[in-house]
Amino acid sequence: MRALALALLAFPLLAQHGRYLSDSNNPAIGDPKAIAAGTKLFMGSCAGCHGPDGGGGARGPNLVRRSLWHPLSDDAIFQVIRKGVPGTDMPPTKLEDDQTWNLVAFIHSLTGPASTNPVPGNAAAGKDIFWGAKAGCANCHAIRGQGGRLAPDLSNVGGSRPLAVIRESILEPAKDLSYLGNETAVVELKNGKTITGVAKNRSNYSLQIVDAKGRLHLLQMADVKKLTISETTSMPTDFAKRLTRDELRDLLAYLAAQDIRLETAKGSK
Ligand code: HEC
Ligand code: HEC
Repeated sequence: MRALALALLAFPLLAQHGRYLSDSNNPAIGDPKAIAAGTKLFMGSCAGCHGPDGGGGARGPNLVRRSLWHPLSDDAIFQVIRKGVPGTDMPPTKLEDDQTWNLVAFIHSLTGPASTNPVPGNAAAGKDIFWGAKAGCANCHAIRGQGGRLAPDLSNVGGSRPLAVIRESILEPAKDLSYLGNETAVVELKNGKTITGVAKNRSNYSLQIVDAKGRLHLLQMADVKKLTISETTSMPTDFAKRLTRDELRDLLAYLAAQDIRLETAKGSK
């Protein structure tokens, strides 16, 4: 129960940004058939540059990351696909309107939580990797009350993060610390105490810190003598080398399936 409360606490920022792209009235958005058709088109014409999950590649930018910071409306995406971006590698297309909307629907779905999209890979194999010694993820991260307390609880990571963001968190940690609400903070209090942990909700008046034992501290800024926010991470940065492609794919499948609502609905662990 405590782990659950913490997991929920860990995502207030995301809730604010929950809708990455502005709503569109086009019926293709959110329609599984349109998304499936869009997936096919994307794999054939776009994935070579933008990566199969929109996470970007050598020739095209990460479409999901872009929408986290500067949401593009569905209509704007439609226009980009139709007209391309002159002067760059992004080509114009000659697709019918409905096909273009299928692509928009697919791109829109990529920015939703990983658990809501089909994800390749073997989640059972990924589970062994997460809990095994080679990757050591569970030394730091907990899922459903098991595992380490040093790092963010991942019980709802699939239910709250797009797949491309989870992938980046593993391959390029520290890229989005403040966006994801994972900054490490050292707080010196006026009473002489020091608290180190992950800074959660932060305002001019108050601060929440989750320490390595998973305890939540609610602090008033008036009591704080010095606050140091660190932009570095204790998450290992060599997983791109340490894990094979297949291991990473399976690990992502396991993490994508971590969704508190889905698991609760199934009544299983
Ligand atoms: C040859 C490589 C290439 C191909 C193929 C390609 N793109 Fe792009 N795409 C790019 C590049 C490069 C940009 C960035 C353009 C710029 O600098 O603004 C881009 C930009 C975009 C953007 C705008 C992103 C933003 O942040 O503004 C969208 C949406 C997009 N592409 C979707 C698609 C779709 C859908 C397809 C398939 C129909 C596709 N792209 C095919 C290279 C490509
Ligand atoms: C030594 C401790 C440590 C290990 C080992 C570790 N992590 Fe992390 N991880 C962290 C910390 C600390 C963060 C918080 C953000 C940061 O500092 O980069 C984090 C962040 C993350 C995030 C982003 C969380 C969010 O809020 O979205 C994911 C996903 C993640 N780790 C997955 C993994 C996986 C998968 C493994 C194993 C392959 C792993 N981590 C191994 C410490 C660790």
